[in-house]
Amino acid sequence: MKEIDNVEYFDINNISEMFHKKISAEEIRGYFEEGKIKGKIIENEWYTNQNAIDDFKNLLVDERAIFVGPYKIDLSNIELKGRILDIGGGGEGVIGQFKGEQVVAIDPNRSELEEAKSTKDLKIVMDAKDLQFLDNTFDTVTAFFTMMYIQIADHKKVFEEIYRVLKKDGEFVLWDLTIPNRGNIKKDIYGVRLNVKINDKIIESGYGILWNKEQDMDHHSDLAKDIGFKILKKEEEKDTFYLRFRKS
Ligand SMILES: C[S@@+](CC[C@H](N)C(=O)[O-])C[C@H]1O[C@@H](n2cnc3c(N)ncnc32)[C@H](O)[C@@H]1O
Repeated sequence: MKEIDNVEYFDINNISEMFHKKISAEEIRGYFEEGKIKGKIIENEWYTNQNAIDDFKNLLVDERAIFVGPYKIDLSNIELKGRILDIGGGGEGVIGQFKGEQVVAIDPNRSELEEAKSTKDLKIVMDAKDLQFLDNTFDTVTAFFTMMYIQIADHKKVFEEIYRVLKKDGEFVLWDLTIPNRGNIKKDIYGVRLNVKINDKIIESGYGILWNKEQDMDHHSDLAKDIGFKILKKEEEKDTFYLRFRKS
């Protein structure tokens, strides 16, 4: 990153990082060369500013993405008790915004935590596959549109870790997106737009992933059952689902 005349300029690697490296440095270079990212060459390297990156994100959505929604999710009457571990609590940090100091938010991407809009939660850089908490630590674990970001092959390990750190009778509450099979569809990003209601506040958010997986509610509830969770709630609405499990 460079600062010129009080404007921050980002290089190819910075931009690739912004997309969690799901778009490689080489692809970003290609977008610069095609003029799809408006930038300039400084000392033989491509650079651009935040406005041009925002324009590029819109172009990416038009060219490569299918977004469903916007769907409304009302959290106002959702009960989350005691000490809460929020898995993948970066992004908007919705659960942190909802439950504040009750929440420990973990995410392996430091920048996601730094950018999260929640302010009162405790944010820790950590991977859900390898939680650094003792057994039986939390009353509640949440995952708000996070499982869609985790490879299917890692879901079991993440669920086992969640089970381990939950106290007996603790609850795992999860919201996520049904992702259909991509088939022959050319577009390779799939996502959802949400309006999340917390009492009087509406949080507008959008979550998208590279469309190289499919998942649904039964995949998550079957996994939870296999690990020993009791299923308390299973609700599907449009393309999203809400699940609630108890460690018995
Ligand atoms: C975009 S957020 C989802 C929405 C977020 N919970 C919110 O409230 O806005 C998903 C997060 O999952 C994180 N993530 C990906 N793999 C993870 C893992 N193995 N453990 C924990 N979080 C992970 C990503 O870094 C990303 O920040």
